Amino acid sequence: MGPVAEGARGERRVEGSSARLAEGVYEPVREGLEYRDRSVSVVSNLKAPAGHVARPVFQLRGVSKSFARRNVQALDKVDLTLEQGQFASVIGASGCGKSTLLKIMAGLTPPSSGSVMLSGKPVLGPRRDIGMMFQQATLFPWRTTLENIVLPIEIQDGKKAALAVHDRAHALLDLVGLRGFDKVYPSELSGGMAQRAAMCRMLIAEPDVLLLDEPFSALDEISRDFMNMELQRICLERNATAFLVTHSIPEAVILSDVVYVMSPRPGRFVEAVQIDLPRPRTLDMLSDPLFGRYTKQIRGRLDKGAFI
Ligand SMILES: Nc1ncnc2c1ncn2[C@@H]1O[C@H](COP(=O)(O)OP(=O)(O)OP(=O)(O)O)[C@@H](O)[C@H]1O
Ligand SMILES: [Mg+2]
Repeated sequence: MGPVAEGARGERRVEGSSARLAEGVYEPVREGLEYRDRSVSVVSNLKAPAGHVARPVFQLRGVSKSFARRNVQALDKVDLTLEQGQFASVIGASGCGKSTLLKIMAGLTPPSSGSVMLSGKPVLGPRRDIGMMFQQATLFPWRTTLENIVLPIEIQDGKKAALAVHDRAHALLDLVGLRGFDKVYPSELSGGMAQRAAMCRMLIAEPDVLLLDEPFSALDEISRDFMNMELQRICLERNATAFLVTHSIPEAVILSDVVYVMSPRPGRFVEAVQIDLPRPRTLDMLSDPLFGRYTKQIRGRLDKGAFI
């Protein structure tokens, strides 16, 4: 098994850096990949339903990134295909290149080499069909919740266009349980409420793809579980494609169709773990024996010394 481009749901191709793995250049990783727990095999038995044509939304090919000033190679030949409606996560050690990958996918940072395509067009800068959410809510303190939510529209299309989406903003506030908080300033919101407002801001432009960089890591466990279930509900309702960076193995497993394990820097995918739990996922599944086996498998693949 080499890394880990995903084709039609359930099938896998070996690409990019996998060629070197096969040649034994990076022996420890290759050896590690021979680990198999048959009950949670990496190569899924899931077959796409007859007639199902998986539509690739995001396609990354051979994406590498070096930061010349500090002579750091953050990413090495990452291949990734995300299909419409798929929820994927990446998990790996601190500093392995996860946020760099997300910024490249969002068009905020150019790759040093390789290509990034979204819906058949190269990603060359920020796009409105991509919504992004960061670890901190980053709401502007001088704007109300509603004004923060419509800000992306205001920046892109002006004040009149922002006014025109107030109804949509109110509907989103309802969706995340913040009805009545539209005129409130961020200092009057709890951490979880601020993150929910940030989620509305991400959704206001109705993006097809959600890129999430540890969006709920600052929250307590109860709020985080709740937000994760909300995120799943919104993704299912909108058939959105999501890619989540996380440090939490249970979070990755409960949310994802596939979890990509990234090697320590330079970041490369060393394994793709297909999560064959039914949807919608529920918090009860956290105690499912199969859930436990997935988390064990992923933990086994991470370099424990480097993982935070
Ligand atoms: N703008 C930059 N200039 C120089 N080096 C950078 C820059 N951005 C990231 N790096 C370096 O690239 C590497 C990967 O950073 P990145 O932020 O992608 O890691 P990460 O996997 O998201 O880590 P964490 O889990 O701690 O958030 C790090 O060594 C970091 O110092
Ligand atoms: Mg990061």
